[in-house]
Amino acid sequence: PLIRRADYKPFPWLVPETRLHFDLGIENTRVVSTLKVVPNPDAAADDVIRLNGDGLQVSSVKLDGLPVKNWEMDGPDLVLPLSAGAHEIEIVNDVSPEKNSQLMGLYASNGMLCTQCEAEGFRRITFFPDRPDILSTYLVKMEGPVAQFPVLLSNGNKVSAGESAGGRHWAEWHDPWPKPSYLFALVAGDLVARTDSFTTMSGREVDLAVWVRAEDLPRTEHAMDSLKKSMKWDEEAFGREYDLDVFNIVAVSDFNMGAMENKGLNVFNTKYVLADPDTATDGDYDAIEGVIGHEYFHNWSGNRVTCRDWFQLSLKEGFTVLRDQLFSQDMQGEAVKRIEDVRVLRAVQFPEDSGPLAHPIRPDSFREISNFYTATVYNKGAEVLRMMRTMAGPVAFRQGTDLYFERHDGEAATCEDFVKAMEDGAGLDLRQFRLWYSQAGTPKVEVSLTHKGDTATLALKQTVPPTPDRIAKKPMPIPLRLALFDRDSGSHDGEQLVILSEAEKTIAFEGFARSPVLSINRGFSAPVSIEREVSTEDLVFLAAHDDDPFARYEAMQDLVVAHLVAVCSDSLTGAAQEAGRKAIAGALRKVLTDDRLDDSMRGELMMLPGQTYLAEQFLVADPGRIHAEREALKVALGVALESELIALHERASTLPATLDHASRGARKVKAQALVYLAAGNPDVAAKMAAAQYDAAQTMTDRQGALMVLTGLPGVARTDRLIDFYNRYRGNELVVDKWFALQASSLHPDAIEHVKALANHPDFNLRNPNRVRSLYMAFAGNPHAFHAASGEGYRMIADLILALDPINPQTAARFVPPLGRWRRIEPQRAALMRAELERIAATDGLSRDTYEQVTRSLG
Ligand code: ARG
Ligand code: ZN
Repeated sequence: PLIRRADYKPFPWLVPETRLHFDLGIENTRVVSTLKVVPNPDAAADDVIRLNGDGLQVSSVKLDGLPVKNWEMDGPDLVLPLSAGAHEIEIVNDVSPEKNSQLMGLYASNGMLCTQCEAEGFRRITFFPDRPDILSTYLVKMEGPVAQFPVLLSNGNKVSAGESAGGRHWAEWHDPWPKPSYLFALVAGDLVARTDSFTTMSGREVDLAVWVRAEDLPRTEHAMDSLKKSMKWDEEAFGREYDLDVFNIVAVSDFNMGAMENKGLNVFNTKYVLADPDTATDGDYDAIEGVIGHEYFHNWSGNRVTCRDWFQLSLKEGFTVLRDQLFSQDMQGEAVKRIEDVRVLRAVQFPEDSGPLAHPIRPDSFREISNFYTATVYNKGAEVLRMMRTMAGPVAFRQGTDLYFERHDGEAATCEDFVKAMEDGAGLDLRQFRLWYSQAGTPKVEVSLTHKGDTATLALKQTVPPTPDRIAKKPMPIPLRLALFDRDSGSHDGEQLVILSEAEKTIAFEGFARSPVLSINRGFSAPVSIEREVSTEDLVFLAAHDDDPFARYEAMQDLVVAHLVAVCSDSLTGAAQEAGRKAIAGALRKVLTDDRLDDSMRGELMMLPGQTYLAEQFLVADPGRIHAEREALKVALGVALESELIALHERASTLPATLDHASRGARKVKAQALVYLAAGNPDVAAKMAAAQYDAAQTMTDRQGALMVLTGLPGVARTDRLIDFYNRYRGNELVVDKWFALQASSLHPDAIEHVKALANHPDFNLRNPNRVRSLYMAFAGNPHAFHAASGEGYRMIADLILALDPINPQTAARFVPPLGRWRRIEPQRAALMRAELERIAATDGLSRDTYEQVTRSLG
């Protein structure tokens, strides 16, 4: 059934207290749940209580201490008649963690037990009103064999523990903070911890622990450092203090997503915990810091203030992504982090917003909420809050968030509550701005600058494109940071913030004897696409002179995008195309040789726009053509700049293999230099990459070199791929990289490699990281996925069908790449559509996959 936001009703009952008893076993775990329930004064009374379940078998039900038989199952739910007043309900049921391949609820991973309850996994453990507006305190007692489960963890503080007969033991955990069921967690297994402590701003001493398998302990230092930095940063940046005596993080190899913010017991995908320089790249280090921060920050934005219903998901996710982005900006450098975040937004969220799965950051309906943990809810959600921060300024924004936390602490809130707190606390008028919550689609802003006399006139026009949910759209307030550069001095008189609230607007700027150069949407102040006629000359100017680092990056990107779009549309041929390449090569040469640039920023400026982003520029794209033209440009640049690229690589190779900013920047430009050289001069690049691989002291250098070699046919490729596997076999996360490198490679036979890897003994459909490492990498590899034969589409459809019965949540994540068919040239579009139809015609699809496939077919 379709669930609608408009249908929200408070639940007739409240559950002030929950007691859970777990008799733990891998094959079978017995759960005894005791709920105190009282009528909800804010809801219409009911004479039954509906407790959600999912695949649960009931053993017994007691009401107020007495066995009852008058309950019934309604589908998966248990419905029990209940008279007015307070009651105690006790339910006994069994679950089989070992059989749980969905990885939702209680499941087994490498002999340990763990849980994932967000969004609706708690109902796979026991019967409960499994909705985020039912807040309860939890007392959890768990027991099991000591040898098998020496460590027993749950939310909150440990209140008691002891041994029982027959080699068994138990522990009892109490979480004093009322929370919704999606924040429940339990972990039992043979784990070891890196421990530390943190003293909060009011002097509370918090015990910290990162729990992992014994062999992984040496790779936990960075995670612990990141946690302490996060705790300190949230106090300083948002005034938020931690509120329990312990904070536990557990790393799990089998996990559907990145991590989960369960109260006091964050459960993480190992990918976002484990790192050392030999096995993790610089990018991995940053991602770990960001995700540790993200989950930690949820303690306030998500846990202390939670969501009323799942339509409000962006309330906690958009806000927490903004918080983790600001944290990473402070830790890693603002400019580069902003560029990276925008690149992700454009590569993932823009296509979502322009395709069949488009939805507003606060959706109006869904069938399966797991399908709405999207780049739109998360990343565009963060952009929407960032716009409020840009309009209010950081100080007033902080007053808004302070008021929000103060007003709604302990509550299940709505997006509207957040906006209201921003209006009252930050002093913004957000009446029209609320449209950003209800309208999907990336707004387009058409920009033109004309000049006459001493006046420059800026004309702006916005359109919000139609999306499947809604055709007619209203203009939204779009905050645009802009500057007008004087061509001669290369400087400007200060940045301005223009808020485009109407469909069209013109602004006159006086005092410009010559036409100025416009820099607009600086810092990516609004998540829109800017369309303007701009000369190559102006872009080259901005790429060299703009004092806003993001705008400088943007000018480089625009230069290349405009060129490739023109080439792919056959509107730039012969001499004009040659001139365009020359201009790009000139701008890139400046980037390579400008010694005032820091390498980390240089690495960003060197990156060519991705193929999905390029495809977005066309109503109907030809992925084959885009790939070929982008590669041809790389060849031209690699040839034209060979000596500069080699010199840059040599210079960067002299830096030590340490984790400081300069060394990391050096590794980034080395990888980029190899990418261009591999196109321009494959023989030289193969030698350099092989040498870099052999001498590598970090995973960043080793992976960067292997990525280039993997795309080049030849012996160096095979030798190093074999070496890499043998060197790291047994290390799951590095073997994931080995799969992903081959699946995403430029090698002409990548598709054959993927087929072979699917039969590799290390491939395993039950492990989401491994599935993603092979098939997400493949689906994101345009020349392989979009093979004209349609074979790539068939392989992804086959994967979806094989995975759906095992892990529907992960299977459904592979539908969006096929769902792009409407925006692809007709022959491929037909093949993609046929695969979607083949999936749709299959019996017994999960709700997850069914929803994504039917929406994608339209
Ligand atoms: N709340 C988690 C996070 O953003 C994600 C959990 C998603 N779980 C899911 N089953 N979809 O950090
Ligand atoms: Zn989150």
